[in-house]
Amino acid sequence: MPDHTVSRLLGWEDVYIITTRDGSDTLFSRAFDATYHSIYGAVGESKHVFIQNGLDSHLPLDKISILEFGFGTGLNAFLAFLFALRHEKQVEYTGIEAFPIDFKVAERLDYPAYLSFPEERDIFLRMHTEPSFVLESFEFSKKSTFDEVDKSSLFNCIFFDAFAPGAQPELWEQPVFDALYKMTAGNGCLVTYCAQGEVRRRLIAAGYNVERLAGPPGKREMLRGVKISA
Ligand SMILES: C[S@@+](CC[C@H](N)C(=O)[O-])C[C@H]1O[C@@H](n2cnc3c(N)ncnc32)[C@H](O)[C@@H]1O
Repeated sequence: MPDHTVSRLLGWEDVYIITTRDGSDTLFSRAFDATYHSIYGAVGESKHVFIQNGLDSHLPLDKISILEFGFGTGLNAFLAFLFALRHEKQVEYTGIEAFPIDFKVAERLDYPAYLSFPEERDIFLRMHTEPSFVLESFEFSKKSTFDEVDKSSLFNCIFFDAFAPGAQPELWEQPVFDALYKMTAGNGCLVTYCAQGEVRRRLIAAGYNVERLAGPPGKREMLRGVKISA
């Protein structure tokens, strides 16, 4: 398991905002030389990969627990919160982020307005300032490292949203997926925007039943690994 001990705030010298093709914003990280979302549409990608192909398959459950590897801008976390509101579900979200963005950067990302929920801006900003909080239908918590997550926890849906294997190969190694498989509840899934063959093979080796699904705009495929209950 890689050593994720470094944690520092990313300010304007480290990241800058870019507008993607669906009109929603994302960040470009100078340190990782990578964008936080697809340039073909940040919100479009997040909704397609993590909500429609991840959370929606758990709609029959009243309570859904999510683990996200790479909290980043908080876009996926905010979409998970909106999912809880829309479907009247209990959602428990745990995000992992080793390099949190500066609050001023978060303030400039206007996802609540873009998603037509400007009245929920305060919730979006709390995700960046508070390590945990509890609302009526949504529980939020954030850890700095994967090692801090209780390995006996079980999650219905894992959002695997690390930077691409080329940028951070250590996060896509077999031991990471083996650990995540153990933390996936029966019939739970791991979804990722990445469709590389090597990643698919590692998910299969970890135990997942892996499907190649149509990708978001600009990407042919994405992956979903399902843990089939015995
Ligand atoms: C593709 S971005 C995530 C985008 C995010 N899901 C969103 O909705 O904005 C990848 C994230 O992983 C974080 N990261 C990089 N190394 C990490 C590590 N070792 N542990 C946890 N997070 C890490 C980066 O700082 C970045 O925020």
